[in-house]
Parts: sequence; structure tokens; C-alpha cells
Amino acid sequence: MTTIDASPATGTAARFPAGFRWGTATAAYQIEGAASLHGRTPSIWDTFSRTPGKVLNGDTGDIAADHYHRMAQDVGLMKRLGVSDYRFSVAWPRVQPTGRGPALQRGLDFYRDLVDRLLEAGIRPVATLYHWDLPQELEDRGGWPLRGTAERFAEYAGHVAGALGDRVADWTTFNEPWCAAFLGYASGVHAPGRTEPAAALRAAHHFNLAHGLGVQALRSVLPRSAEVSLTLNLHAVRALTGSAADLDAARRIDALGNRIFLDPVFHGRLPADLVRDTAEVTDWGFVRDGDLSVAATPVDWLGVNYYSPTLVAAADPGAPAAGGDPSPWPGTEGRVRFVPAPGARTAMDWPVDADGLYELLARLRDELPGVPVLITENGAAYEDYADPEGEVHDPQRIAYLHGHLAAVHRAIADGADVRGYFLWSLLDNFEWAYGYSKRFGIVHVDFATQRRTPKDSAHWYADVIARGGLPG
Ligand code: FCB
Repeated sequence: MTTIDASPATGTAARFPAGFRWGTATAAYQIEGAASLHGRTPSIWDTFSRTPGKVLNGDTGDIAADHYHRMAQDVGLMKRLGVSDYRFSVAWPRVQPTGRGPALQRGLDFYRDLVDRLLEAGIRPVATLYHWDLPQELEDRGGWPLRGTAERFAEYAGHVAGALGDRVADWTTFNEPWCAAFLGYASGVHAPGRTEPAAALRAAHHFNLAHGLGVQALRSVLPRSAEVSLTLNLHAVRALTGSAADLDAARRIDALGNRIFLDPVFHGRLPADLVRDTAEVTDWGFVRDGDLSVAATPVDWLGVNYYSPTLVAAADPGAPAAGGDPSPWPGTEGRVRFVPAPGARTAMDWPVDADGLYELLARLRDELPGVPVLITENGAAYEDYADPEGEVHDPQRIAYLHGHLAAVHRAIADGADVRGYFLWSLLDNFEWAYGYSKRFGIVHVDFATQRRTPKDSAHWYADVIARGGLPG
């Protein structure tokens, strides 16, 4: 078995606070495989990935990184990395196949086994209940635009907490509800692939409601010491210029991308400008009395996923309507223009810009005092390959990680309460609409043989963890 070498050789430039949590993150559909084993039913991602033209090369998560069968080996890899924490997600259709009624013991057993092995390895499990794999049966009944789905989620959350609550201390309701609502129901590039802007706004509200109901369900089952959270992919929005029109474009994207979740969850209100901006799309009549106070059920920390910033400007007056895919930003057509940022890019074509992460953390420090933050995802895809010696050299990923960790360190020094960092991702995996064409892992996976090879970045990360800071 491959060893992971973490022998600090040079000095440490940026030391993180004692107790800082160093983790890796994954998601069920992206790594598990075993899609129809032991009673698991299709999720919206099984259906979507089997629909021709939706996922690059027709890839599906049927086998993925075969983590379902290689879980022990993968925990072993993390132990050798030296991580203190592991963020994974539970597949709803594996533990409650129809999305209602009793849980399937066999499904729960898989996660119990995973958690036991993690604890044995000295790794703290951080469980996410929903990383996009809605049971297809619930989508067939209406999916997230339907209010009842939020109630179904709370029931499911209770089942999982009942089974794992004695061993898992950290819980997250949702991963990136923005993507699930707007890529899933507005632009349609993610499952279930619907292109109904009004339904996407309903879905966003139902995610907030389901989050609150889920927190309540978790708290009713979990010990008092358990910590409950939500993970958002907050957008670091920047206006191209300081003109009033560009600043207004940035305000609109901030409302639709960030405050649509932050305001209900942390303040129990909907942003007034969001409601105004989207008036042509919906009257928000689906928001019932009391929903927003449910959404604001207190959490213990906020998870932040960050990859790159978003640069916007006012749309050019008189410019023809943009062609191509439907927009994931309801109500912004003809008002907002997304501007490609200059500079280096990853294999996803996402700009590399660690300052955006610093800006987000400084904003959360100022706007949500008293709410600790965990970076629940950060990382980069590059064109990795194993060389003839069987090694994977990924200097660009190391540079990306170094820059972003330095930004986190700077934010902490400036007063941000950041408690940990989860690198996306442990393994190369099924990258949603991009299938297996994009590799985010610090461990390379040869999908033909399922052989795992730690990349240079894995050795680098092990060294960072061992020294508790960045080499310099
Ligand atoms: C995030 C997702 C995660 C992964 C990364 C690259 O939006 O939460 O599953 O695909 O992007």
C-alpha cells in the first residue's frame, strides 16, 4: 500500500490555531457506486445521468470510485494523511428508498460501519444529509418546488440521526442549496434538469424551510452536545466598476446567490430587494406565515464552499438576449452581465483567486458575529495523470491550495472565526455534469482498475497537517 510521507523539512510560515480541524470532503453519489445494491433506489442523479446528453460522455455514478466496497481502504488513506475530520454525505435513497416511511437498516449499516472505522482511525465524522441525491420518487411527486418535500426531508433527517447520533457529533443539513435549486430547476444543467425559474425560487424557499425543519428534527434526537450546520456556496460577488449600474448588478447577484439563504437562516426574513427583483417571476405566495422563523432555527456553525469569485456588470443596454442555456439567475436577464475574470484558471475554467475567499470570510466576520465558520469545500481540478513511475505530479493544485489556505490564515489573523478546512476532494470522482472528465482528488483514481494513488498534493497536505501550518 502506498505510503504518504509527511516529514516537515522546512520552516512553517503560517501556523494555524491549535485545534484547527483539517479534513477532506466527499459526497455519496460522487464516490460510492453500488447504485442499485442492497435496496438503494434511483436518485434524481441516477435518472439525470442516464438521460442522453446530460452528463459528459454519458458517465453515471453507477460505479464511481467504488467507495461502497473500498470504504475501509479509503479510511486508511485518510488515516495516513493525518486528517482530523472527514466530511461525507448520506445517500437518501440508500437509507429511505422511497423517500418516506421506515428506514432501510442495510443502508444505515453502511454509514454506521463507515463512522465506526473513522472513529477507530481517530477521525471525526461530519455528516451531510443532502448532497443533491433526492430519491427519484420524491421528484416524481413534485420535487423541491413542492412543500411536502421539506417535510419528507425532516423525517429522513430523524432516521439518520437516530441511527448515527450516538457517534456523529457534527451534522449538516444541506450542501449548496443554491446549486440544487438554481442549477437543478432553473438552468437545468444539474438534476432533475428542469428549466422553470419560478419553480427554482420555490425550491430555494423549500430548502430553507427543510433546513429549519431538519435542524429541529436533528435536535429532537441528537445529544445536546451535537453541532448542526448548513453549507452554502456563497458567491464572492464583485462589480466590474464602481458605477451605480454595475454595483446594482452585484447587489442583485448577492441577493439571489447569498442573501436568499443567509437572511432566512440567520435573520428569519427574506431580502426585500430579492422579492422586488424577482416580482416578474413569482409573487412568493408560497411562503407561509411562520416559515421564516422555522428557517431561522439556530445553527452552531456555517459551512462555506469556495472555489472562485463572480465578476458582474450591468447588461449592455440594447444588447440582444443572451442565447444558449437558460440562466440559473431568475429575473436578471437584460440586467446583469457575467464578466470573465482575467488570470489563471483551473481545468473547470474557474478563475484562481484566493482573495475572494478572504473577502467572504471577512464579510461573515462582520455580518454574522458569533457564527463560527468551517470551510467545507475548497480545491481545484487539473489535468492529472499517473506518469510511467506511477506518480501524479500536480504542482498547480498545490499552488492553489497553498494560496487559499494562506487566505484563510490571513482571515483568521484579521479576526474571522474559522475553525477548519475540508479539502475537496479526497478522491477523483464523478464531477456531476462533467462526469469523470474532471479530477478534484488529492488521491488519483484509475477508474478502470479503481487503483488509488496519492498525488503530490496528498503528500503536501499531509505535511501541512503534520506541521499545523503552511511550509514557507
Ligand atoms: C461543489 C459541489 C461538490 C463538487 C465541487 C467541485 O459545488 O458541492 O460536490 O462537485 O463543487
